[in-house]
Amino acid sequence: MFNIIITENYDLVASEAFRIMKSVVTKGEPVLGLATGSSPIGLYKKMIADRNTNGTSYKKVVTYNLDEYIGIPRDHDQSYWTFMHENLFDGLNIPEANIHIPRGDAEDMEEECRSYEEKLQERVIDLQVLGIGSDGHIGFNEPGTPFDSVTHVTELTQQTRSDNARFFDGDIEKVPEKAITMGLASIMRARQIIVLATGASKADAVYGMIKGPQSEECPASILQDHSHVTVILDKAAASRL
Ligand code: GLP
Repeated sequence: MFNIIITENYDLVASEAFRIMKSVVTKGEPVLGLATGSSPIGLYKKMIADRNTNGTSYKKVVTYNLDEYIGIPRDHDQSYWTFMHENLFDGLNIPEANIHIPRGDAEDMEEECRSYEEKLQERVIDLQVLGIGSDGHIGFNEPGTPFDSVTHVTELTQQTRSDNARFFDGDIEKVPEKAITMGLASIMRARQIIVLATGASKADAVYGMIKGPQSEECPASILQDHSHVTVILDKAAASRL
């Protein structure tokens, strides 16, 4: 079941997401599931601004990231490790030991998948932040990923590589071909999920997630079975609903 919020623009999407985030991070020892991509950047900016203005502490926060590219080092400027530090972690006071990001540069990727999933199983994510790919992927769970998948290595689709080429000098050849990602079953264990999407290029994927048949062809459609999902959209992303 989805709670759907449709707003005028990207900034208002971020504001709605921040409202939910703030209610989670100010209680107890929150566990956050975090995403990369352009969709959550506005939310992350508001979290940092709130910490700077109101002194909101993140000392007790634990985070798990969804995914990471395989084949580029951690300190590569387009790794998700770098993205998260530049866009969020450097502006907050989360202890480094509480931050979990899967390694795409591990020698044994099967072992990395197993140990990341094991770390995930130690806790329950209170709030999972998700973007959605134009092909309906969440994390890097591309179309065809089984609904019962846990952390695994995945091959990126042409569509995803071409969508993400803008971060690699517009050159699809520079976009890694593989990634490590939390699985769909790993994501579904979260207590609460927010999905952020803006722009017309997301309208079909948003439609598939909410109104389409539940199918592995649209990985985000698994969320139809989750009891607490809020989808926050601008008008363009909501245009097919
Ligand atoms: C990326 C990430 C996803 C993200 C999605 C949408 O490839 N792996 O976690 O949600 O694609 O990205 P964006 O928000 O930039 O549109």
